[in-house]
Amino acid sequence: MASTEGARASWSGKWAFILAAAASAVGLGNMWRFPYLAAKYGGGTFLLTYLVLVFTFGVSLLLLETALGRKTGQSAIGAFSSFGKKYTFIGVLASAVPFIITPYYCIIGGWVTKYTASYVAAGADALADGGGFFTNFITSNVESYVWMLIFMVLVFVIVGLGVKGGIEKANLFMMPALIVMAIFIALYTLTMPGAVEGALYYLTPDFSKFSPELVISALGQMFYSLSLAMGIMITYGSYMRKQDSLTSSVVRIGCFDLGVSFLAGLMIVPAAFVAMGSGEAVASNAGPSLMFITLPSVFVDMQGMAAVIGFVFFLLVLFAALTSAISLTETLVSIVQDGVKCSRKKALGIVVAFVVIAGAVINAGYNVASFIEPLGAGTSLLDLADFFSNSVLMPIVALLTCIFVGWIIKPKAIIDEVRVSSKFSAAGAWTVMIKYIAPVLVIVILVAYVAAQFGFFSM
Ligand code: PFF
Repeated sequence: MASTEGARASWSGKWAFILAAAASAVGLGNMWRFPYLAAKYGGGTFLLTYLVLVFTFGVSLLLLETALGRKTGQSAIGAFSSFGKKYTFIGVLASAVPFIITPYYCIIGGWVTKYTASYVAAGADALADGGGFFTNFITSNVESYVWMLIFMVLVFVIVGLGVKGGIEKANLFMMPALIVMAIFIALYTLTMPGAVEGALYYLTPDFSKFSPELVISALGQMFYSLSLAMGIMITYGSYMRKQDSLTSSVVRIGCFDLGVSFLAGLMIVPAAFVAMGSGEAVASNAGPSLMFITLPSVFVDMQGMAAVIGFVFFLLVLFAALTSAISLTETLVSIVQDGVKCSRKKALGIVVAFVVIAGAVINAGYNVASFIEPLGAGTSLLDLADFFSNSVLMPIVALLTCIFVGWIIKPKAIIDEVRVSSKFSAAGAWTVMIKYIAPVLVIVILVAYVAAQFGFFSM
């Protein structure tokens, strides 16, 4: 695993890199967002579209970012500016994304922590009251802040223990535990009456559900889930050794992330189907509340097992959220450390202060400052942060990155770097992807998200 103290860090091997990248990729995006998007867009049709996108577009961009990092040996800002000062702004924009995501990610992390603890302290019935529990909690002026802080403290302690002593050990424990728990819950859920029908809804493609919105949503989800366009994979690539294959690593990261998203859907979509009775009902009710409101009311029907299943489920989501929040925080620490030229300890101090304050401000959007509805009635400051980072900034960074590599430094610079450690027979197709297809797709996402937000069409 990488160490950032002293000289430039490097991974101890290919698997250390893959585990760290997978730990960053697998997070709330997989557990919380992917299942409701799959439910909303007709299950199998969404799955198939997502699969195709991950192994064409997603893996191509992963390869681009890691190779750029390894070639320059720098994190995002340094990587771009090493080709000329005038490109520094792309790295700066990329680095801005984790600054926006981390505070609100920790708020949702706090919700998950609260739910995990509540299954132990209050039992399954307390959480299954049709939404009152959730609403009372996020609108509380004290409790919601306390749980956000508890989650943040867990993250800061692990990051504070260092890359080897904290992050590596945490990933090594939490990632396998997460997979085992996910398989257990998915199998258990499938034993519920009606769940198999739900699983079929999830797995069977219904091509009448295919639409431009589906593709755009799948693309946006893929960016977020693979932690693309935020400088993180550039930094991780910069820790890679020259002899480790980039192509096989990025394909494995894609497989891992996709596998966990698939499992998350297999846990959640059939359960939602049991609760709602039909695919149509699931599709029309699918949204962020699926995990925090619908699922607890499904778990409560498991009688004797209710609290156990609820606890294990939220613990596994907590692990996914923690490993991602750790990687986001580590990215912020390295940006501050490089930018301010200070010690790791001081950088962590600055990051802690920023994340706590920004988190508190965004959280206030659900309680003391809930009168602020930045994107229209019913929206929150968290929605604004999510919209700005995922729907505006990330597509812009991805577009600039593709133009930078495709048209300015030229694809050959990256292809040569990839070929240092492995064959790259798809180099021709990759070039077409980066120069033509990816920029067009990214512009489509950007325009569609912004247009949908401002009500030109619904998504
Ligand atoms: N990929 C994470 C998820 O799907 O939840 C989110 C994320 C984590 C983005 C870490 C960026 C990052 F650095």
